[in-house]
Amino acid sequence: MPISDRSRNGSPLRPAFIATSSYKPDSMQVADELHPVIHSGRVVVITGAASGIGRAAALEFAKLELKVALADIDEEKLKAVGKDVAAVVGDANVLVVPTDVAKLEEVVRLRDKVYELWGEVRIMNCQWSCSPPSSLPRPLDPVAVLMNNAGIGAEGTSWDGIENWKKIFDVNLFGIVNVQQTFVPSMLHQENQAMIINTGSKQGITNPPGNAAYNASKAAVKSLTEGLAYELRERPHSNVTAHLFIPGWTFTPLAGSLHFTSKPEGAWAPEETVLYMIDKARNGDFYILCPDNETKRLVDELRIMWSAGDIAEGRPALSRWHRDYKALFEEYMRDGLASSDSGRA
Ligand SMILES: NC(=O)c1ccc[n+]([C@@H]2O[C@H](COP(=O)([O-])OP(=O)(O)OC[C@H]3O[C@@H](n4cnc5c(N)ncnc54)[C@H](O)[C@@H]3O)[C@@H](O)[C@H]2O)c1
Repeated sequence: MPISDRSRNGSPLRPAFIATSSYKPDSMQVADELHPVIHSGRVVVITGAASGIGRAAALEFAKLELKVALADIDEEKLKAVGKDVAAVVGDANVLVVPTDVAKLEEVVRLRDKVYELWGEVRIMNCQWSCSPPSSLPRPLDPVAVLMNNAGIGAEGTSWDGIENWKKIFDVNLFGIVNVQQTFVPSMLHQENQAMIINTGSKQGITNPPGNAAYNASKAAVKSLTEGLAYELRERPHSNVTAHLFIPGWTFTPLAGSLHFTSKPEGAWAPEETVLYMIDKARNGDFYILCPDNETKRLVDELRIMWSAGDIAEGRPALSRWHRDYKALFEEYMRDGLASSDSGRA
C-alpha cells in the first residue's frame, strides 16, 4: 500500500498540522462554460475509472456535461460506474470500455471505440505543415481531456518482489506510455484545445521509504509528463497541454479505504481531490499539487525543497529519514512554517 495508515500518525518527521477545512465545491469556479477544454459536449477519457479518484473524476466531468469514456481493468465495477455516470449525463454520453492499460492492443481498442462513437470524420484543410496531409480525412476533436489515472500499489523493495516491480511498471508507467503513444498522435491534429492529465504521486517526488517500486514508478511518471509537456509546448501550433496531477492523501481502496469504516479526518474524499484537480487544470497549472486535511501546501513545498537539497547540499540519500539529520530536518520544518506564519502576521 503506497500510503500506509502508519505514516499518517503524528511523528517528529511530520510537523503537526491538522486542517479543518476541505475543498468545498461551493467556493469553486468549475462551472465556467467558457473554458476551452473542460466544457459541455466535449469528451473526457479516464483510465482507472472504476474506483476512487477515477470514478469521482468521471462523475464530476459528467456534472459539467462532458461525454465520458470510462476504461478500467475491473469490468464489473466499471459497468456499475457507467450506470452512475449515465444517470448524470445520459446513456448516449457514456462509453464503457473494459481495458487493461498495460496491454497496448486494448488501449488501441479503447481509442478506436472513442473515435468511432464521438470522432466524426471530415475533410479538413490542414493548417500545419505536419502530417496528416490536408487531403486525408481526420477525426473531429474527439478527445478534450485524457486522464491517465489507472494505478496500483503493489509492493517491492530494492532487492525483493521482482514480479511486483514488473506489474507496477506495466500499469503505472507503461499504462500511461501506451495511452500517450496511442492517443497523442491523433490529438495533435485536433482543432480545439485538449489536455492530458497524468496521475503521479508525492511519493514519486520525495520518495519516502516503504515502497521503492511504487515510488520509482511515480518518479518515472513525473519525468515522462515533464517531457511530454516540453515536447508539446515546443511543437509549432500545439493545441495540447500536459499536466502532472499529484493527489494528496485521498480516501480510496489504493490508499487503504477498505480497512476503515469511515474516512479518516486527515484524508480528502476523492471528490475533493478531483474538484481541486479540475480547478487547477482549468487554470493551466502543470504541477497540480493537492493538499489534504493533514498536509497543507507549505508542508509539501518544504519537504520537496529539502529533498532537492539532499543533492544540492551533498547530504545522504533520503536524509529526511536519516537518524543523523532528524533534528536538522525538524528545525528546518519548524523554521519554514514559522517564517511563513510571521510573514502572514
Ligand atoms: N489515493 C491516494 O491517496 C493517492 C495518492 C497519490 C496518488 N494516487 C494515484 O491516483 C490514481 C488513482 O488511484 P485511487 O487512489 O483512486 O485507487 P483505486 O484503487 O481506487 O483506483 C485505481 C483504479 O485503477 C484500476 N486499474 C488497476 N490496474 C489497471 C490496469 N492494468 N488497467 C486499467 N485499470 C487498472 C483499478 O481497477 C482501479 O479501479 C493512481 O494512479 C494512484 O497511484 C492516489
